[in-house]
Amino acid sequence: MKPIQVGLLGMGTVGSGTFNVLQRNQEEIKRRAGRGIEISMVADLDVAKAQALCAPHVKVVSDARQVIANPDIDIVVELIGGYGIAKALVLEAIAAGKHVVTANKALLAVHGTEIFEAARAKGVMVAFEAAVAGGIPIIKALREGLTANRIQWVAGIINGTTNFILSEMREKGLDFDVVLQEAQRLGYAETDPTFDIEGVDAAHKVTLMSALAFGIPVQFDQAYIEGITKLGAADIKYAEQLGYRIKLLGITKRTEAGIELRVHPSLVPTQRLIANVEGAMNAVMVQGDAVGTTLYYGKGAGSEPTASAVIADLVDITRLHTADPLNRVPHLAFQPNAMSNLKILPMSDVITSYYLRLRVADEAGVLAKLTSLLADANISIDAVLQREADQVSQAGENQTDVIILTHDTVEGKMNEVLAQMQALPTVMAPITKIRKEELN
Ligand code: HSE
Repeated sequence: MKPIQVGLLGMGTVGSGTFNVLQRNQEEIKRRAGRGIEISMVADLDVAKAQALCAPHVKVVSDARQVIANPDIDIVVELIGGYGIAKALVLEAIAAGKHVVTANKALLAVHGTEIFEAARAKGVMVAFEAAVAGGIPIIKALREGLTANRIQWVAGIINGTTNFILSEMREKGLDFDVVLQEAQRLGYAETDPTFDIEGVDAAHKVTLMSALAFGIPVQFDQAYIEGITKLGAADIKYAEQLGYRIKLLGITKRTEAGIELRVHPSLVPTQRLIANVEGAMNAVMVQGDAVGTTLYYGKGAGSEPTASAVIADLVDITRLHTADPLNRVPHLAFQPNAMSNLKILPMSDVITSYYLRLRVADEAGVLAKLTSLLADANISIDAVLQREADQVSQAGENQTDVIILTHDTVEGKMNEVLAQMQALPTVMAPITKIRKEELN
């Protein structure tokens, strides 16, 4: 049978990885897919560079629309990124009856509802394994492998840049700004690292996992997002002393009140496997009622790890594209007419536990006052750590850090107590609040 014809939009790191892996493993891939998979056309603004990366028979053009207009192309792989031209091209490819493979988490997290509906109406597939956690087949796991389960929660380290920075901060005792500069010098962080360090990239990915886990529409605008820019080396050190590591987690959880969808730094017990995921690696935990807790680990970015996910999608589409569209695997795991409208909870309604660090005057009654405010709000304390007085302020009084770990409470109530604590004259600096996840 004639190989299925693929058109690649964007011949960057992932595009060239996809080309290379398809070439190298073509016989094995064909044995799995049932027919060959051939990239026959590529669009890239730098035609000469792209042509040098492809075999001579591949037609390279600068205009992506020429790929979409080619009636011989069965699958369009979008590797351009962003919400702009990529959105127009994906919708045009769907309208032209092409299946689409994309690594574009931003596009699907924000415009997924429109794109999946367009694909459903046209009877084509949109596959996005490469959009979350690079080479880890977490989309496949959530959509198919765990399909028997009522999924309770998903929590993941899904941004390698921030995990690398946090690992370096912990190992070397350095502050965020210093490590970010080092990460940029080594090429681990982008020149403009905003999406990574502010948690936006992780929020795109957890939004997609939330939709797959719970059968809800993608709702990036409802996600709570907090990055790692305000974390200090002191908090990482205190967390370590209390038996925790700080990780940027993307979390989505089913509760009686609704769905939690959030990205923020979290204390995770050191004994959890996920707490020991270091450097640029990714890991995702999924808790299902039948399977229990499962963990998926691997490279979340890079040329061939991401290509591995892109090609897995190409194989899936090759196997399924002659199937009746109504009997294919649904884009978001649940049948489009069986989606749930469970609401996403505001952060003030989320229940979790907390690490609090307070810079306080080292004098009688300060700790008692803090703990009484927590007791009055019925917030239970899990642990308290007080350092020796280590600094004399301008006014002459000794200051010290008090660290309090709480048990679970609702965030709105925690914030009210924090406002009361912050107003105390003996609390000398803004209070640090970091959420804590036991993940058990
Ligand atoms: N910038 C991402 C990361 C990789 O640092 O993990 C692509 O999503």
